[in-house]
Amino acid sequence: MRSLALLLLAPAALLLSPLTHAAPPPYETRTEHDPNGIGKFYLGREIAQVMGHQAAGWLERPERESEERTDLLVEAMQLKPGEVVADIGAGSGYFSWRMAKEVAPEGKVFGVDIQPEMLELLQRNMSRRGVSNVVSVLGTTSDPKLPAGSVDTILMVDVYHEFDQPYEMAKAMVDALKKGGRIVLVEYRREDPKVQIKRVHTMSEAQAKAEFTLFPELRWERTLTPLPQQHIIIFRKN
Ligand SMILES: C[S@@+](CC[C@H](N)C(=O)[O-])C[C@H]1O[C@@H](n2cnc3c(N)ncnc32)[C@H](O)[C@@H]1O
Repeated sequence: MRSLALLLLAPAALLLSPLTHAAPPPYETRTEHDPNGIGKFYLGREIAQVMGHQAAGWLERPERESEERTDLLVEAMQLKPGEVVADIGAGSGYFSWRMAKEVAPEGKVFGVDIQPEMLELLQRNMSRRGVSNVVSVLGTTSDPKLPAGSVDTILMVDVYHEFDQPYEMAKAMVDALKKGGRIVLVEYRREDPKVQIKRVHTMSEAQAKAEFTLFPELRWERTLTPLPQQHIIIFRKN
């Protein structure tokens, strides 16, 4: 009788399983760690220290475009007018206004950061450039405070490796995306020996896939490598 009940329940369990989240992987704290990291590990990766607003000038350095080919990154995103974009970890808004131009006039960009000083800088940069379709949002380390199901594209450039609660942030991003929306993750290539960046500020493609495809709603779509040092890893919400 018991085995008959199990037999009848099994197909129902199979149907439900893709919709349910497994328990989040635990964070681990180690005393011996990289001096540029915070000693907290997620799926074997050490989380980096957050870049302070005092260093914002570096994000706006004139040689950035030629060094990182930020123009190719914006081009590779193929944004369309009318899209709603979230620039998470926007900093001074280097990418926010460039994307705002692509999605104008109907589309907009949420510029999200956890440092109010960065958002002040971002707002100043937007008014200086006469950009009116960037909305600044003060997030927390676990929540980008975006409306549910409202975003077509989330961009993170050199920021995800700094999130001290990456699981919670990724979960909130899944909720904020529209169905069919995408996450565009840009990180320095850890697996590329030519990339001379501090280790905790890099991420391998395999690590990124492991962290994002934990969520059954997300699938890896493609990885692009037109940039000199970073990869562009795209995940799509089913
Ligand atoms: C290295 S800067 C990159 C800024 C920008 N993406 C760029 O490429 O110019 C990283 C930014 O991420 C922000 N940040 C760190 N953790 C965050 C979180 N959980 N949510 C939102 N922003 C975060 C930091 O405050 C900082 O402004």
